[in-house]
Amino acid sequence: MKGIILHGGAGTRLRPLTYSGPKQLIPVANKPVSQYVLEDLRSCGIKDIAIVLGETFPELVKEHYGNGEKFGVRITYIYQGKPLGIAHAVSLCRDFVGDSEFIVYLGDNILQHGIKAHFERFLSEGYDAMVLLKEVEDPTRFGVAQFDAKRRLIRLVEKPKEPPSNYALVGVYFLKPVIFDAIKDLKPSWRGELEITDALQMLIERGFNVGYDFVKGWWFDTGKKDDILTVNARILDERITGCIKGALENSRVEGRVEIGEGTRVINSLIRGPSIIGEKCTIRNSYIGPYTSIGNGTSVVDSSIEYSVVMENVSISGVDGLDECLIGRCARIVKAEGNRKAVKLHLSDYSEVIL
Ligand code: DAU
Repeated sequence: MKGIILHGGAGTRLRPLTYSGPKQLIPVANKPVSQYVLEDLRSCGIKDIAIVLGETFPELVKEHYGNGEKFGVRITYIYQGKPLGIAHAVSLCRDFVGDSEFIVYLGDNILQHGIKAHFERFLSEGYDAMVLLKEVEDPTRFGVAQFDAKRRLIRLVEKPKEPPSNYALVGVYFLKPVIFDAIKDLKPSWRGELEITDALQMLIERGFNVGYDFVKGWWFDTGKKDDILTVNARILDERITGCIKGALENSRVEGRVEIGEGTRVINSLIRGPSIIGEKCTIRNSYIGPYTSIGNGTSVVDSSIEYSVVMENVSISGVDGLDECLIGRCARIVKAEGNRKAVKLHLSDYSEVIL
């Protein structure tokens, strides 16, 4: 059994962060989204993993994952370049897969309970392919499943204007090499991509046994800022244990909070669930709940909650930060002198809500 993580795509809805890195490396609870994916595959015993790279800073992905040794897996990198579709990305993995069964996992998807139970179902049922489904309010944003009266899967359609059901395709696909024959016969969709949904539909039409399983618990496709903040909150809520390695000086911690090595918290209140990375300085500030602070960040005379702050950020003299997603090395400081001045130096597609 092999695993494929899709790490390409354009990430336009997450600009400006995707001007300096792929969206799948954006951290939640101080860990890149795609690392949750890798760890989920590993929890199924899958050690042979291909990562498909796109045009957006592929070298950062290689820098993070290396040959996989650090994560207990073997990684093969496959270049896709332009995002010509999920099925296109999969087709590039033909040699990597060989005769094996395999799982394709979109690098921006996170499932509360992971995929292990579904993986076991795929192995025991002997399906030619198996998809995961989740009931959603707005299925038009996803691939959607249609069933017959006996709850058999009869059609899969990508982002339909009139959805045949509320069951969305989750971005995890359990496959056998027969999918490559279907991909070969695909034509680009209306959005110019080779769609995995269409390839699966072709398998259904050709009489292959395409199964499905329902996802229990939450599932997110972290394509937008609000999704990142929501997943961050859920993961902090469920997985933060409360381990303090840094130094607390005249400070208080309420609830479950993780504080990394070399971090100093001075005259501050940290409310959990929250995580503060290594080598941070928190002084005269209030942090949390539901906040992740990346390594090397400093927060002074400020307050921030329900936010994701990445590495080496500097925040000083700013009260009331809420629902923020702040990229690496950003600087947010109160102007000296004229206290009413708002001086901005923002990159394209930045958003400031005052
Ligand atoms: O998240 C679930 C949905 O994912 C499914 O319901 C849809 O059926 C499926 O088509 C997909 O839809 P999206 O519009 O969300 O796909 P997106 O373009 O965002 O790409 C999904 C992931 O795959 C993302 O991590 C980027 C990566 N990707 C995407 C394309 C098009 C690649 O690596 N290469 C590509 O060419």
